[in-house]
Amino acid sequence: MTTDKTKLRTTDTMRAAVIRRFGGPEALKVELIPIPQPKLGEVLVRIRAASINPLDYKIRSGQLQLLTGKNFPRILGCDFAGEVVDTNSTETEFGVGTRVFGMLNGFKGGGYAEYASVPVEWLAHTPTVLTDQEAAAIPVAARTAWKALRNLLHKVQPQSVLINGASGGVGTFAVQLARIIGVHVTAVSSRDAFNLVEQLGAERLLDYKETDFIKSSDRYNLIFDVAGNRNFCKCAPILNPKGLYITTAPSFQGVLAFVFAQPFTGKKALILDLRPDGTDLTNIARMVTENNLRPIVGKIFPLSEVAAAHTYGETKHPRGKIILQI
Ligand SMILES: NC(=O)c1ccc[n+]([C@@H]2O[C@H](COP(=O)([O-])OP(=O)(O)OC[C@H]3O[C@@H](n4cnc5c(N)ncnc54)[C@H](OP(=O)(O)O)[C@@H]3O)[C@@H](O)[C@H]2O)c1
Repeated sequence: MTTDKTKLRTTDTMRAAVIRRFGGPEALKVELIPIPQPKLGEVLVRIRAASINPLDYKIRSGQLQLLTGKNFPRILGCDFAGEVVDTNSTETEFGVGTRVFGMLNGFKGGGYAEYASVPVEWLAHTPTVLTDQEAAAIPVAARTAWKALRNLLHKVQPQSVLINGASGGVGTFAVQLARIIGVHVTAVSSRDAFNLVEQLGAERLLDYKETDFIKSSDRYNLIFDVAGNRNFCKCAPILNPKGLYITTAPSFQGVLAFVFAQPFTGKKALILDLRPDGTDLTNIARMVTENNLRPIVGKIFPLSEVAAAHTYGETKHPRGKIILQI
């Protein structure tokens, strides 16, 4: 293992937000636990900021326990940014002192902590124009948006996308990425968020409280259902021939609709899922530098107020990402 003067003893502990049972935000406690030791091919990252995703609420509440199991204590969080402080990898690109950001395995977590041990292939360099708080806002939300929007690359222009849920973590990246690749955007959000999504590049704005977009006469090449409250069957009539419906959060009925309706419509449906991938993040980091892609940072909480941060995220309509300063 290559180390420097920052090397940590195996007995050292760190602060981390853990759950020891499923429950509400009060289940989150900040505790002292051992610092992980990097395995072969991993580096130890001193995390300076983590961001909160809706997935974290679902894991904390036990909604996903069939996928996560009941392993406690469990550190939540998969988005982080910080600095490499120790390495057990021959990869010199991410040596001690390198500013990095990345995404951990969503179901295993580990991001709401002072340190995480991370395989080098899950990391990317933090763009110099970003703070750690901004970089931590990127991984899950931007990668999800990019996975959806890149389906429109290399297609004949003009292309049009409807983004349902345009003002949240994923939606704010999706609107910007659509602008970057030259796609016309119709954004569905609350009226309060119109200014934000317009500034990010949306051309048409629909308030979901006033307009039901599936009743519109407009047609789209892609419907990106970030809010996950419209299924493929409902959206298929307003997709262009060979149009694509993509959702982040399918319901059981939504999946049935995919299976039974897709073969008869000539239109396609996709459910997004994400695995850690540093190469994907490096591409997104390039768009930060070259295309002015920017994370929208909402409210910042210290790690000690992680329960309040979850309460805020679940009960308010937060704009942009909620960040934990660590
Ligand atoms: N499958 C995957 O890999 C994956 C990855 C990332 C996210 N997700 C899922 O995607 C969903 C969104 O994630 P996020 O990070 O963007 O969440 P978020 O930051 O909480 O944003 C959700 C947005 O949905 C909007 N919204 C609420 N009710 C709506 C409605 N009836 N119609 C249209 N929009 C509505 C809200 O807009 P207003 O504030 O303007 O009301 C809010 O901005 C979550 O369920 C998350 O778990 C899945």
